[in-house]
Amino acid sequence: MEKTAQLDIAGNLYSLPIVEGTEDDKALDITRLRNDTGYITLDPGYGNTGACISSITYIDGDRGILRYRGIDIAELCERSTFMEVCYLLIYGELPTAEEFAKFKDQVLFHSLIHEDMKSFFTSYPGHAHPMAILSAMVCSLSVYHPQLMEAMQPATERDETIARLLSKVRVLAAFAYKRSVGEAFVYSRPELDYLSNFLHMMFTTPMRSYQPDPVIRKALDVLFMIHADHEQNCSTSTVRMVGSSKANLFAAISAGICALWGEWHGGANQAVIEMLEAIQRDGSNHRKYIDKAKDKNDPFRLMGFGHRVYKNYDPRASIIKKYCDEVLNHLGINDPALEIAKGLEEAALTDEYFIERKLYPNVDFYSGIMYRAMSIPTNMFTVMFALGRLPGWIAHWKEMIEEPAMKIARPRQVYTGPTQRPYVPLAQRSAK
Ligand code: CMC
Repeated sequence: MEKTAQLDIAGNLYSLPIVEGTEDDKALDITRLRNDTGYITLDPGYGNTGACISSITYIDGDRGILRYRGIDIAELCERSTFMEVCYLLIYGELPTAEEFAKFKDQVLFHSLIHEDMKSFFTSYPGHAHPMAILSAMVCSLSVYHPQLMEAMQPATERDETIARLLSKVRVLAAFAYKRSVGEAFVYSRPELDYLSNFLHMMFTTPMRSYQPDPVIRKALDVLFMIHADHEQNCSTSTVRMVGSSKANLFAAISAGICALWGEWHGGANQAVIEMLEAIQRDGSNHRKYIDKAKDKNDPFRLMGFGHRVYKNYDPRASIIKKYCDEVLNHLGINDPALEIAKGLEEAALTDEYFIERKLYPNVDFYSGIMYRAMSIPTNMFTVMFALGRLPGWIAHWKEMIEEPAMKIARPRQVYTGPTQRPYVPLAQRSAK
């Protein structure tokens, strides 16, 4: 029998269907509430709103669990690769050897961008933020592939669009970086794997050919796997929202990149390093910054701390912390920012303010230190996050577009502006 909940509105009882997930998620289905009662639900920031039913990623924020298609993130980071995780997220299962070879070939095949696009990059000022360039370039890709613009493509063409995006966004990111440092663009080398090829396009110069370092490559693979999906976060919801109008995939991903940019979301990795540098310049007194973060009259927040969903240690942060130590040791780097970060973490985790609010280090707290050790400039950190998040965005877009009962996203509101009033001509308006 269908489970229901009773809602009592001024003595009138309404029955709401209960929806349950495979991991004990519970929801009240309110899709008919407004029609039946005239009421909507109000939830600014969507903290308590389920916008869809999804089978991609499971998070239990209280227990610090993150799983892609049922597989624990720590196990994936240890045993899988980013390319395999892309396939898993997008197509729902780990690939067979044959499926994986075909998928990798498709991605490899599309690792060039139209030559004309190079001139777009040079039109940006050298100091342009690479996230601005990346979102514009991803949207511009649609111009060069008009045949792939249709949101409702047959499955084989959709796979083609997905492979193109996965491959080309990496090229666009590397070119955006080259533009920001004023170096010549470097073309892809088809014999290299996805990540080594990306590092080659970033770091090869006319003077030096980039030599892949297995420790760095593995660490980057892990960072990308960790970033690959996080269910209905701000940027993924943006991709779904834009895609729900049947805008093409390029447009939806471009919007997701913009949403990720903000410092409360993916932009936090850049903000963390800037914060750690500021603390260092200020004498490395992390206690002072803990106090600032607690002061309600001070807008300062401890960047890389807190999360809407995790009310426990972010499982991604513990994995990154381990690799961060490994990468710095491997490269023989002694980064004072790491010491400040560890000091801040220790102080915050024993402070009543942070304990009460269940604020823990999140994915962005240590990732910037690792990117910096890999010689990736600070303004590229969020681009790295975007590259990692790409398969997640694609998987959610695909899941939504393949849903037969897909609906355009269109929330409601509670209006609190003036009630109807007449227009007053300018000459009759009195001065305030
Ligand atoms: N430093 C100090 N206080 C904080 C912080 C912080 N980083 N984060 C939350 N709080 C306080 C906040 O002031 C509020 O206190 P009170 O109850 O006294 O008003 C309480 O904790 C709850 O905060 P909230 O703003 O209601 O929580 P939220 O779920 O809306 O915000 C967040 C989540 C991530 C935007 C927020 O924790 C934050 O701004 N963190 C810093 C930015 C950051 O690291 N973002 C990256 C998130 S992980 C990457 C990703 O997946 O996007």
